[in-house]
Amino acid sequence: MTNKILLVIFLLSTTCTLRAGEGMWLPQLLKALNEGEMQTMGMKLTAEQVYSVNQGSLKDAIVHFGGFCTSEVISDQGLLLTNHHCGYGQIQSHTTLEKNYLKNGFWAKNFQEELTNPGLFARFIVRIDDVTAAMLAGVTDKMSTKERQSQVDKNMATLKENKKLGPFEELMIRPFYHGNQYFSFTTVTYNDVRLVGAPPESIGKFGADTDNWEWPRHTGDFSLFRIYAGPNNEPAEYSEKNKPYAPKHFLPISLDGVQEGDFTLIFGFPGRTNQYLPGVAVQQLIETVNPARIEIRDAALKILDAEMRKDEKTKIQYASKFARVANYWKKWIGENQGLIATNALAKKTNLEKEFQIEVDANPALKAKYGDILPQFKEKYKILEPYVLSTNYYNEIMGRNIEAMRIITYLRRLSDAYDKNGKEGFDKYKERLAGPMENFYKNYSPKIDQQVFARLTKMYGNADGAKEIAASMQNYLMANRIRNYDQLAEEVFAKSMVLDKSKVLETISQSPEEAIKKIKNDPLFKMATKISEVYQEKIAGRYREINGAIADLQRRYMAGLMEVFPNERFWPDANSTMRVTYGKVQGYQPRDGITYNPLTTLDGVIAKYQPGDYEFDVPKKLLELNASRDYGNYATAEGKMPVCFLGSNHTTGGNSGSPAIDAHGNLVGLNFDRVWEGTMSDINYDPSICRNIMVDARYILFIIDKYAGAGHLVKEMKLVHPRTAQSVKKKPKKILQEPFGKQEQKLKPKEKKAIPYRGGE
Ligand code: ARG
Ligand code: ASP
Repeated sequence: MTNKILLVIFLLSTTCTLRAGEGMWLPQLLKALNEGEMQTMGMKLTAEQVYSVNQGSLKDAIVHFGGFCTSEVISDQGLLLTNHHCGYGQIQSHTTLEKNYLKNGFWAKNFQEELTNPGLFARFIVRIDDVTAAMLAGVTDKMSTKERQSQVDKNMATLKENKKLGPFEELMIRPFYHGNQYFSFTTVTYNDVRLVGAPPESIGKFGADTDNWEWPRHTGDFSLFRIYAGPNNEPAEYSEKNKPYAPKHFLPISLDGVQEGDFTLIFGFPGRTNQYLPGVAVQQLIETVNPARIEIRDAALKILDAEMRKDEKTKIQYASKFARVANYWKKWIGENQGLIATNALAKKTNLEKEFQIEVDANPALKAKYGDILPQFKEKYKILEPYVLSTNYYNEIMGRNIEAMRIITYLRRLSDAYDKNGKEGFDKYKERLAGPMENFYKNYSPKIDQQVFARLTKMYGNADGAKEIAASMQNYLMANRIRNYDQLAEEVFAKSMVLDKSKVLETISQSPEEAIKKIKNDPLFKMATKISEVYQEKIAGRYREINGAIADLQRRYMAGLMEVFPNERFWPDANSTMRVTYGKVQGYQPRDGITYNPLTTLDGVIAKYQPGDYEFDVPKKLLELNASRDYGNYATAEGKMPVCFLGSNHTTGGNSGSPAIDAHGNLVGLNFDRVWEGTMSDINYDPSICRNIMVDARYILFIIDKYAGAGHLVKEMKLVHPRTAQSVKKKPKKILQEPFGKQEQKLKPKEKKAIPYRGGE
């Protein structure tokens, strides 16, 4: 055999062929691309029941939650289910030392007690359309990146102008396959979304950061919200008069649970994947980018952790921020390990070899794609110091030194004045009131000063990011400051930013006075110097090189699809609605170890550490467990199920996504992935990439038995699809109206069943 044939065989068995479970698919294309496979895997629904424009379908129950998570409607009164960690910011914002909802949980007893959340929205997708032809009209291969972009922008404007939308509808257009295709999303957005219920952290965040990204898992990661609408069920700003929203469809909840091998479908809004990166990019991520950002967050987190352990107030203030920073810190560590363990780099380079051989063998392909791989190499090499500097700048100045947030506000205030005089100043000042209030409620200058000292030092010593490092060193020299501790002391002693009343007093003066003071503030001065250097030397160039890389990536994607026409390529995630499907399935993390895909309350009890901030268990839950008081929610073996694993391909943004069974019922709530598979965003590997879900029965058990909020369960529709299958009654009618109202509701206590039989 020739080398080429060997390579092809290797590729077919590793990288090239799409592997079961892989892919985040567009719901409107399931019929054409996936329906057969899904049904072979066990799905009893048709593609039309999953996504339809003309009749109620599963998609009508799926909600983009605040733009960062997924949630689903689970009652005819707009009740929304999402993760505890998705609602965390909201739960925390209503929490005080007296009303400690993080610690004790929160359960509204009636509609009046549900809590409003300014800024939070719930977005539905009405329909999805292919607009590739219109978006690429007039675009040619000969155009420069800039020309192409301007043509695409023009086309988008025309499309939006000419599109006829219903009341309250909006149109979003997004590129797919790195700009080779475009789809439009007609959306309707509700802005009155209220907090209904949340378990205590010791359930909703059980295991916290130690267990985060890991299996076996025992977290009841859920919370409940409700959409409110105006008099005609239309989107409306918050008003006391608003009523619970009546959905087109809501998900029935299965009491039958899952078994290994069961079909599962995840519907949601995955944020971002990069499955088609070239090897050079993966190498840069492993060797340069991930290590830098891990190191920075590591330093910041150590300081936060030590302070949070000292007192309860600090813990509440920093809980949400800590969890957010820790989440990706840990993910990047796992991602790097996983990329190495799965030979991601070798797989990418082998694919590239094959690609290049095919391209070189065909003059037409060669003319179109021959330069891409060498160009990637060159561009990523040039990018290196810029991407590193940008990560330092963003992580340190943009994220982990908190006072910089206020500096940004003040800078925008001063910009608003420069642009629109006193009117601009006043307007922006007004907008600032809420965010400032929130900021200071959770701010500890004492913590921030330590973070500042530690991270400015890292900035000043950043290897491989010479120019920005020099800007920090120069600042020290120019101001005759010996070291970073001294810098922190001086800045934190003199800046107004650390004190809310001083900032408010400053901006209450005349714009001229205020801006003079702001510009004299020591932290403002330092931030300005640092930012000037970053903007001047890094930002523009970084954008430019990235633009060129994006263009190469678009052409590479087109090339892959043309060179390997028999492969089924899925479009990288881009925060649009997707369907992924797989099975309930365990995995082998290491040689000789197999993970079972199901966990139970026994595992919670085994992890229990009284008083520990991650592994404490509420007394009531211990009692319910001791008396085996599981209500209707236990398994046939009398166990209380907690979490389960599946081979569904998910990413950040899929949190809160429903796990749906073969019949269209909710069986679980997606919230995480396993440690060995966190590299799935870059190199999906079916042998170890698994998503983690909370079992719906655990959620019901906590709401009903633990919290005594049975009135919420009564709102839901509980079904027994498994037992239903043995009862054959008018299947045809049900088939025609799979989500119809004729299916009666089950009261939580009733064991009687079978309302939902899906596509039996
Ligand atoms: N890893 C999950 C996701 O990426 C859950 C994160 C929330 N939990 C936490 N401890 N930070 O969002
Ligand atoms: N926990 C993630 C989220 O918040 C989901 C994931 O990354 O698997 O969306």
